[in-house]
Amino acid sequence: MLLENDDSVNRRELLRELVRQARFILSLPLTQAVISLSEPSETTATALRSKGDKMNDNELLGSNDPYRLPRHVIPTRYDIRLEPDLAAATFSGHVTITLMVKQETQTILLNATDLRIESTGLEGTTGRKIEATVELEPLLQRVRLSCRQPVTPGEWRLHLSFHGRLNDQLRGFYRSTYKDASGMVQTLAATQFEATDARRAFPCWDEPDFKAVFATTLVIDPQFTAISNTSVVSESVEESKKVMRFADTIKMSTYLVAFVVGRMQPTKPVFVGRTPLRIWTVPEKQELTPFGQEIAVASLKFFEEYYGITYPGDKLDLVAIPDFASGAMENFGAITFRETALLVDPRAGTHAELGRVADVVAHENAHMWFGDLVTMSWWNGLWLNEAFATFMEMLAVDAWKPEWKRWETFSVARAAAFSVDGLMSTRPIEYEVQAPKDADAMFDVLTYEKGASVLRMLEQYIGPTVFRDGVRRYLRTHAYGNADTKDLWTAIGAVAQQPVPELMNGWIFHPGFPLVTAEMDGQTLKLSQQRFTYLKQEIQPEQLWHIPVQIRLTKDGRTEERQLLLTERDATVPIPSDVTAVLVNAGGHGFYRAHHRGSLLQQLLDQSRDHLAPIERFNLVSDAWATTLAGVMPLDEYLALTARFKGEQDKNVWAVLLDSFSFLNRIIAPNDRASLEALVRDRVGQAVKNLGWDPQPGESDLIRQLRGDLLGALGRKGNDQATQQQAVEWYRQYRKDPSAVDPNIVPALVTILAYVGDETRYEEFSELYRTASTPQEERRYLFSLAMFRSPELIARTLTRTINGEIRTQDAPFIVAAAMTNVYVREQAWEFVKTNWDQMDRLFPKQGLRRMCGGIVGLATPELEKDVHHFFTARKIDFGGKTMDQYLEQLRVAVSFREREGRMMPATLASAIQS
Ligand code: BES
Ligand code: ZN
Repeated sequence: MLLENDDSVNRRELLRELVRQARFILSLPLTQAVISLSEPSETTATALRSKGDKMNDNELLGSNDPYRLPRHVIPTRYDIRLEPDLAAATFSGHVTITLMVKQETQTILLNATDLRIESTGLEGTTGRKIEATVELEPLLQRVRLSCRQPVTPGEWRLHLSFHGRLNDQLRGFYRSTYKDASGMVQTLAATQFEATDARRAFPCWDEPDFKAVFATTLVIDPQFTAISNTSVVSESVEESKKVMRFADTIKMSTYLVAFVVGRMQPTKPVFVGRTPLRIWTVPEKQELTPFGQEIAVASLKFFEEYYGITYPGDKLDLVAIPDFASGAMENFGAITFRETALLVDPRAGTHAELGRVADVVAHENAHMWFGDLVTMSWWNGLWLNEAFATFMEMLAVDAWKPEWKRWETFSVARAAAFSVDGLMSTRPIEYEVQAPKDADAMFDVLTYEKGASVLRMLEQYIGPTVFRDGVRRYLRTHAYGNADTKDLWTAIGAVAQQPVPELMNGWIFHPGFPLVTAEMDGQTLKLSQQRFTYLKQEIQPEQLWHIPVQIRLTKDGRTEERQLLLTERDATVPIPSDVTAVLVNAGGHGFYRAHHRGSLLQQLLDQSRDHLAPIERFNLVSDAWATTLAGVMPLDEYLALTARFKGEQDKNVWAVLLDSFSFLNRIIAPNDRASLEALVRDRVGQAVKNLGWDPQPGESDLIRQLRGDLLGALGRKGNDQATQQQAVEWYRQYRKDPSAVDPNIVPALVTILAYVGDETRYEEFSELYRTASTPQEERRYLFSLAMFRSPELIARTLTRTINGEIRTQDAPFIVAAAMTNVYVREQAWEFVKTNWDQMDRLFPKQGLRRMCGGIVGLATPELEKDVHHFFTARKIDFGGKTMDQYLEQLRVAVSFREREGRMMPATLASAIQS
């Protein structure tokens, strides 16, 4: 549960008490500890409290975490029959679970929630039957079966019938709707089980290491079709219903099971080896499939080759769902997507939009092996799934379109990880998980982006071939099973013949990352490491990492690289006297920030054009900005540095620069804003002039994307009137003939027009949002509705986030966007406070969490105080450290404001002169 009410504290206390009792009981001899079953209890709090004295042999065999199931009854197979009623938004089902009972027991615990479970019985292989009664334990989301007689070791079949609702929460078995070509509302049913929501669709052992075979049958209305993890083995009609039976799956985790039922349409299959690969959409959207199918096919081939293992399923379907909480989900053989992440028109999409589809498709395909074939044992090891899929996504997209230079853009992701990992409230990549909401909180930049960054660092350190062979060994060893971080190190270490755990454990099991300070002392380069934090606080004990430091020396225009493993706090490197520049973190793969002190930075800046790769320039600016936020580099020095990049042509380097200007925009006082706009015009103006508005023949996609990014910045953050006028003109042309304008600048036109727009424009964009012909266009106009400056117009947008007009998959992001729109952020925050309960009910849980990320935009001391008050008074907890991180990010911004705010106009004015 996401939003905790008042008695949640008591509840948490109770849980703790329960754990304590369990520990106590565990320390007793078995005979004393076995306490007989007491009568079923209804109320949640007492149900919890009574756990202590209901402790029985089942619990004793499991862990002492009340959320974990005991492990002496193991499911091996599920035969599931489900009958959804789309019109009534309900479903009924029956599941037969084949069990291996390892130790005699009379109690069986499994997961289920929001289900009504009706009848039950156990059946032995010899035909012996045992009746069992069902008791729900809602707080722990589980079911307790009390068997009439002892269930002896061996194989048993458990029969359960159940009923549930197709919910609107975009999790479990849920309902999604869309308007068809004639404007009729159509319904479909889909699933989203990760992390812990399979238990909402059928009773099951819903933990990733209870792998089993699933055989699904869907009973549906004849006008619909159904998709599940495997191919259809039979289709028949029973009592005017269509009965679709699917083949057995591989042995896999419950969170990877999927069903989709509705009027879905497939593309023709493309075969990758023997695997047919299809894209499914609602009937109107088939035209938007070729691009997604192309990267799906290319990445599937790439992964078969890289992993050295053919795709382990019998088919692969990629399904676009109109309502979808996250970006996509790697259900084995039946990957589900939100529409923007799969369907795109390559002629109308921007580079970034096409790139998004390629990324997500490659990422999910990578999971078919990493995550699906081999799965982390428990959610604390989620990075083994997500960091790897993210890393593999880069490799596959890079191989597919090398001209996109995917690893260069990965810098932006690494920087996003740094920005959370520089907080005192960060967490290690691998982090304890108990409650479902703690599992949800693991899906963050630390798991994904930090995880992928440290994998990249390792790959570059031991070499790509050795790394790949280690990965192959890991997958082969653990196929159809589960694994932990140490298993990965064992496999890679065996191939690399290096002590991988020593190198890597600091990055995985400790929070934060190092700042490597580099300074010349005569002919000696002095290096030292220290944890990087934005807010200065004592860190005890001192933390050291094993850092592969790549150093590049430049002399006479020639370069030379040195590598050292920095394991102590300090190290020295002798530097030949003719060296003119020294770069720390050459190649830019290290997961650390570098602070080049004194002359070192100056030399790099003087030579940056010639000797720094784009990733290195990115890091130079990004590290400089981070050290500025941390109070290590003075703001005027950073702003002077940005002046060196007016001629920059790399979109990622520009992304950091623009991001730092946006940050300043959030903390600057309204009266001082004009001085920031002048700085933005000064820095961006020249670059825009160099590029011009018209795409040049032979120009790369990256440059086209950059043009769009810069125009948008100049028109909004620079408040540049000439650009705004041009944008009006170009937009008019675009509306007459979309092909007259490069798609990459269309988002800039739309956002600038929203920024300067009035009610007429607002209504125009609202209408275009409703009638858009691609998911990207729909999204673009939708987000523009949060970018107007008029409070009256923003009020309309906000209302539409909770009145059903905007899909709940998008609404939280619109609210977040409004909270980072400096002209209306207070209003957006008031709206959140006023409508919190409704949002908590309506929005998908992860959406609500992401929405609250928008509070980092509320960077004034007064708003910060109010934010604290609200979240504390309401005891809002998203699991893990999410809330602490949001609040600390806000603190970083506000403390910067307190430090620099008053001087800002002067600092900015002198930065323009420089
Ligand atoms: N396994 C996730 C989907 C997911 C996310 C499930 C959060 C439960 C909670 C999937 O593989 C994923 O990572 N999706 C990303 C897109 C990806 C390209 C980074 C997403 O949904 O944002
Ligand atoms: Zn993933």
